[in-house]
Amino acid sequence: MKINHKLMENNITSLDNKAVINFLKRNPKLTNGKKVEEFERKWSKWLGVKFSIFVNSGSSANLLSISYLKTKYKYGEIIVPSLTWVSDVTSVIYNNFKPVFVDVNLNNLAMSICDIKKAINKNTRAIFLSHILGFNGLSDEILKLVKKYNLYLIEDVCESHGATFKNKKLGTYGQISNFSFYYAHHMSTIEGGMICTNSRNICEVLRMMRSHGMLRESKLLSLKKKFQRKFKNLNKDFIFAYPGYNLRSTEINAIYGLNQIKSLNLNNKKRIKNFSLFIKNLDKEKYFTDFDMKNSCNYAFIIIFKEKYQNLYFRKKFERNLISNQIEFRRGTSGGGNQTLQPYLYSSNTKFKVIGKLKNTNIIHKYGYYIGNYPSLKRKKIFKICKILNNI
Ligand SMILES: Cc1ncc(COP(=O)(O)O)c(C=O)c1O
Repeated sequence: MKINHKLMENNITSLDNKAVINFLKRNPKLTNGKKVEEFERKWSKWLGVKFSIFVNSGSSANLLSISYLKTKYKYGEIIVPSLTWVSDVTSVIYNNFKPVFVDVNLNNLAMSICDIKKAINKNTRAIFLSHILGFNGLSDEILKLVKKYNLYLIEDVCESHGATFKNKKLGTYGQISNFSFYYAHHMSTIEGGMICTNSRNICEVLRMMRSHGMLRESKLLSLKKKFQRKFKNLNKDFIFAYPGYNLRSTEINAIYGLNQIKSLNLNNKKRIKNFSLFIKNLDKEKYFTDFDMKNSCNYAFIIIFKEKYQNLYFRKKFERNLISNQIEFRRGTSGGGNQTLQPYLYSSNTKFKVIGKLKNTNIIHKYGYYIGNYPSLKRKKIFKICKILNNI
């Protein structure tokens, strides 16, 4: 029984395309402008933060966050999970900070508090936490450590739009938080990302850094005056206040965002329902089902083999079955599993540190998978998928 289950159905709808076509009919200016600002305001309201800056990808949001930290510290260590997306690590490396990898928990795929405690030292500048595949990775203990050691908390929420911790959305706890609107995520602007903060000062620096570090991007008059007074010999239109990039998006992508955000909450509700139905019907003998699903919001179904089935024979059989049933899958879950095994870390003089043996990350690396979970998925199909998985 082939069921042809894709990782993601096209989540850009004809209504989204219509909104873009209607916009284009007016022959508007298409570079970063009023629609981008409108999307930023709407996103801030949806999330519950003061400021949001629309960028061209979640990875650009990652890069900007750590580049902001570079304006604060010359060097230092940043604690990252060993199970995360590659740009969470490369953004640290490009800014000459040392990534310190910690293991994750199986129940929420997020950083182990035990390892974070071991990793903190006088050079630690930030905890760069990833909320993986819709699970909340925050805890009171992590927030306490951030406060106690006066660290920055950066939340990568690229995979977890709408998930919460203590009734507040993820992405509202860190000084900076990052979102991705890549095609496969909870909502899409084709490509795109958002970087969010409650700090006016951080927002101004990030907005400038998004556009070459240009002072004229800032909306803060006092800040502009300060630089203009100090650098009187420079043309005030071309003062590059910070080492920046061009990470801007366009009005077209913002129109997609403005249209997609309208159905985000409803789609998230459907995804949450799908995920709990999937977990309920999965064979608990074979697959791990003790996830911390409270307040999670997953765009994927997660499958991790139980210890008895953690062998290459079962893995091959499992993959063969999924392929023959046309169920698209990714092994290693987010980012393909254990980041510390990836060649980019060894290709240059990159320095990094690993805390402990990364036991859970390695289990997920070898025996963890995800398959698609999207709003249009029918209950019948979820039952069928579970039946196939349980019969392996
Ligand atoms: C946890 C996480 N962070 C960052 C990113 C990067 O987002 P983007 O693909 O928009 O660059 C991804 C991408 O899927 C991700 O899963």
